[in-house]
Amino acid sequence: MATTLSEAQKRDFFHDGFIVVRDAVPAPIHRRARATIAASLPADERRLLVPPRLAGHPDVLALFNESGLKELMENTMGPFPDVISSQVAVTPPHDEMGGGPGPHVDGSWGGVIPTAPEEIDIEHGRPRDAEQYFGPDDTRRGTNDGQLWQDPQRRISLGSYTALVGVAVNDQLVPGRGQFAVVRGAHEAVEAVFRAQRDSGSVIGPEGADWPRIKISSAGRPYLNGLPDSIRARANAAAARAEPIEGWPWPMLTPVCLSAGDAVIALHSCPHTPTPNFGLAPRMNIYFRLRRLRPESPHEGTRRVGHGVSDHPDRGYFGQFLDYPDDYDAFQTSIDKLCDHWCEWDGMQEIVEAQRGAA
Ligand SMILES: [Fe+2]
Repeated sequence: MATTLSEAQKRDFFHDGFIVVRDAVPAPIHRRARATIAASLPADERRLLVPPRLAGHPDVLALFNESGLKELMENTMGPFPDVISSQVAVTPPHDEMGGGPGPHVDGSWGGVIPTAPEEIDIEHGRPRDAEQYFGPDDTRRGTNDGQLWQDPQRRISLGSYTALVGVAVNDQLVPGRGQFAVVRGAHEAVEAVFRAQRDSGSVIGPEGADWPRIKISSAGRPYLNGLPDSIRARANAAAARAEPIEGWPWPMLTPVCLSAGDAVIALHSCPHTPTPNFGLAPRMNIYFRLRRLRPESPHEGTRRVGHGVSDHPDRGYFGQFLDYPDDYDAFQTSIDKLCDHWCEWDGMQEIVEAQRGAA
């Protein structure tokens, strides 16, 4: 495979917020990973709980570290700490995912919230009895290992990174097979929300301007709100204009149709979601979360950050606060990058400048 994106790919990446790289992983590597994952799954395929040890298994990490993807990302993004873990994401066959897809920007807290709408303080988007659900001082770790707040000062409620790299190890070319899906082209508007939050002195992320953490659905059920209100409105408007796709009942979303060995690269700010799998085979994707190296941080590459899997690398993976030198504000640095996401992409600078100039 090529280890640089072509000019056309870079332009698509700039406009769409994601790009598909075909045949990114050689067959022996993705077949081995698939066999290792398949051998670890329980026999009852309706309950596919992936064993945690797979996340750092050499056969799984080889999808990134021993394919051309590592060099492609070095060339497109820049240097980054070693990838030591991953998210092995298997969607069982015949899986309708309960409430359906939930597009989101990565890095929010995911956990149990009240089921009754009267238990929600709508104005603040929080449970009325917050301690019961969020723990004392909002310290309860989410079921997704996320935190309610990144920093002790509660300036930022969203973990972040630079790039999500997903590798398919089974074919998923027909829409409705559990595809990774994106809100195509919404990344710049998401960046604009972060800027507006920063410029208005708001919290950055959920509970900040334009982004209630908990909302009530039209069916009267509280849900964790993965997208700022303006982004959801924008996506709904785009959905009304979208060409229908057969077998794909979610016009807000673009299915990322992959063959085994293909990869998708998405900006952190590109809203995404897994989708129901109506097919007969498990959908198997492996995700690597990369953050461009921040040389000022003394914790780059330490195991407890969990580079490759973590969506909140300013904290330890399990939510530990890390000690930072007085002259390095890890959280403000993340705010700055969220408000200027292309600044972390060395290989995209010329195209970003040219496309912005052409706009
Ligand atoms: Fe996600």
